[in-house]
Amino acid sequence: MGQAWGFGRYGGPEVQEFFDRPDLDPRGGEVLIRVDVAGVNPLDHMLRSGLVSGLDGGRQFPRVLGMEAAGTVLALGEDIDGLEVGDAVFGLALTGGGTYAETTVLSAANAARIPEGLSATVAATLPVAGTTAVDVLDQLDLPAGAVVLVNGVGGGVGLAVAQLALAREVRVIGTGSNAKREHAEALGVRFIDYAAGDVAAAARELAPGGFDGIVDLVGGTSLRTIAPLARDPRNVIAVGDSSVSDLGGRFVERRLDRENLARSAQLALDGILAPMITAIHPFFDAPAALATVENGHSSGKVVIKVA
Ligand SMILES: NC(=O)c1ccc[n+]([C@@H]2O[C@H](COP(=O)([O-])OP(=O)(O)OC[C@H]3O[C@@H](n4cnc5c(N)ncnc54)[C@H](OP(=O)(O)O)[C@@H]3O)[C@@H](O)[C@H]2O)c1
Repeated sequence: MGQAWGFGRYGGPEVQEFFDRPDLDPRGGEVLIRVDVAGVNPLDHMLRSGLVSGLDGGRQFPRVLGMEAAGTVLALGEDIDGLEVGDAVFGLALTGGGTYAETTVLSAANAARIPEGLSATVAATLPVAGTTAVDVLDQLDLPAGAVVLVNGVGGGVGLAVAQLALAREVRVIGTGSNAKREHAEALGVRFIDYAAGDVAAAARELAPGGFDGIVDLVGGTSLRTIAPLARDPRNVIAVGDSSVSDLGGRFVERRLDRENLARSAQLALDGILAPMITAIHPFFDAPAALATVENGHSSGKVVIKVA
């Protein structure tokens, strides 16, 4: 039995609650873990609001919030390769167990050992934002000297994309509110404050020949404003807005397997991916952690220290 934080029905923050949950029995392909740190993502509140389906693993209400975590393996279900009880692991709760909880189940195919030298806190930020950034860079495959526009550079995915692109010697221009400027510029990003005026005009001024790649983390009108700045529309990759295909662009193809998790961990160990963790909330403060992300303007990564 352990404490969990989740929701008894779909809705806004008012449906959130703490409750006790018996430890889940790991099914085939799952490992039970003691959660040390849970990462917080926009997907968490989208699932609570009922805007996204298919990730609940058929579980009943109350459901537990959270998709990513780092912790220690307590028990193995059937058919588990490469993980043992006692391993420090990080990964995704793709079978609906949630991660804002003292214990949960991860899908073993979407979990990996935490390599020595990497903290659980950093590892907990990698399964969603870190691997997304790896996928985006793989799919754009930009050479050194190319120029990329990262729309929404100040958030969890945006900063990771910027770091990986800069490490490839790709020039990065990023948009965000002015609060994101300092950190983005410290990385080497040319920054555009989207509240200061015409974003497309500012971007054109910085890259008169157009962009070799555009990575969109915002969607909607903002995506439609910047998409025409790409030299080739196929090199507009959106991470949250699948209507990018109407513009000739691509929705990111996700690889959530152990190999991609291990790659993101290695990049973090090498210092290439250095998640900016802006807030570490104690478990009782999980509502504040999710509220920060739910307001749509958070910086870097927010995590919940559960253990
Ligand atoms: N497909 C996938 O597997 C996948 C994986 C990860 C994330 N996602 C999606 O990708 C999106 C971003 O995720 P995230 O984790 O990076 O979110 P996040 O950490 O909440 O960051 C979003 C950032 O966008 C900025 N922003 C908001 N409006 C903007 C605008 N008009 N122009 C420029 N920047 C703006 C926000 O702050 P400021 O406004 O203060 O700059 C914030 O820093 C979400 O929709 C998420 O659901 C999808």
